[in-house]
Parts: sequence; C-alpha cells; structure tokens
Amino acid sequence: MWKDFTNWLTNKHSTVQKSFADIWPVDLHNHILPGVDDGLPTLEDTLACLQKYVDWGIKGVICTPHISQDYYPNEVQRLKQVTLTVQQAIADANLPIQFSLAAEYLVDEWYYTLLEQDEVLCFGKDRFVLFETGWANSPRQLDQYLFLMQLKGYKPVLAHPERYHYYQSSPEQLMALKDKGCLFQLNLMSLAGHYGKRAQQLAHKLLQSKDIDFIGSDLHRLTHLTTLEQVFDQDTLDLLSQQPLLNSQLS
Ligand SMILES: [Fe+2]
Repeated sequence: MWKDFTNWLTNKHSTVQKSFADIWPVDLHNHILPGVDDGLPTLEDTLACLQKYVDWGIKGVICTPHISQDYYPNEVQRLKQVTLTVQQAIADANLPIQFSLAAEYLVDEWYYTLLEQDEVLCFGKDRFVLFETGWANSPRQLDQYLFLMQLKGYKPVLAHPERYHYYQSSPEQLMALKDKGCLFQLNLMSLAGHYGKRAQQLAHKLLQSKDIDFIGSDLHRLTHLTTLEQVFDQDTLDLLSQQPLLNSQLS
C-alpha cells in the first residue's frame, strides 16, 4: 500500500496527472493538537504525525480540536498556548510544514453564544468555520446557526456529512443545507470504510454529485495514518482530482 502511495505521489507518467499532495496540500480537520481532546495525547505523537504528513508532501495543517459545552469546554487561550508549543517544536525539528489553530465546534448553546460574541476560531481568507452536529438526533434549529454564522461573516463547513445516521437515512435533508450556504468536508477514512458501509456509500454519492468542498483526515490517533494510506490508490486519486475542492486555497 505504501508503494502505491509513493507511486501516486510521484507519478511522472503524465504532465497533467495530479499528485495526492496537489489535491490535499492542507489538512483542515484533525485532532493532533496534543492533550486537549480525544485526539493525540502527547507532543511526541504530534511530531510523529507531522513527520508523516511532511513525507506525504502536505504543506500545512490547521488543527481543529473539539469545542463543546459538555464534552470539551476548551478555552481559546489555552488552545493558543498549546499551538505555540507545537509551532516551537516544529521549528526546533526543522519540519517544513505550517501549523495553525482553528476548531471543530459542536452545535450547542455555547457555540451560539461564541458566535454572537464573535469569538469563533476560523480558517482561511474566507473565514471558514468547521462545525459538527450531534450523533444521536438531527440537530434542531440548525437553520438559525447557519444564518448566524453567515450573518457574522463566516462560511460554515459541516464536518463529515457522510457520517451522520440521520443524514444517511435522508440525504435530501443534508442537501437542503447546501442550499442554505453550508459547505461539506469529507473524511478521507470514510472512503476506506472506516466508519462503516453506509458512510462509505454516502461519501461516494457526495463525490459523484461533486458536493464535497474540502477533504480532511479527522485523525485522532497514529494508527489512522495507516488507515489513511489505505485510501491512497489511483482510483481514489482520479475521483478526488475531479472534485471542486478548496483545500489548495488554504496553502
Ligand atoms: Fe473531528
């Protein structure tokens, strides 16, 4: 599998052939900021992950720790401190990769307050904001959140739309969000069946209809690096190359 990826990355057979690093130069969804959520626990893990990203040709990482009222009440000041520590370690290790901070917000009351107070971590010139909805039920009043996000000048990006059971059951509800200005970020590991068959099927459906705006890893542990490598084959590269992805705007 690694050989496939290397061939893919360095494909010289055609001048128009894109490499994986061309279409995924920046990972904008991951949990590699150490010790702040259910992601990587230590700075050593973060550096090992970043080294692998560099090997893959990735130029930048926007880390997106969970922020939610009940589970991960992360304060921005603390997240900024940890980000500075990682940036210093990257400089010390001479790793050629950009590292910056955003977040993955759970749509809850705290998030609404943060939006009202303009205290939201966003990324890119277009002020993209990554958010997720709960796993159990279709979110109530999501329209209000989408409206407020856009009113405040943000571009909402729904994390892993293919993973929610309620959207797998009624994809028309999901597509209605697009009409309300919501962008979609696909988890690459969905393509490897990492989250089950239904997520894999919806992932492919969303790619076929060209409704995916960003791809990301949503990496939580180092073993996910191996899972990601399982995605890296020529068919997937061809499929992703045809998408109107915005990842390259972030590098
Ligand atoms: Fe995530």
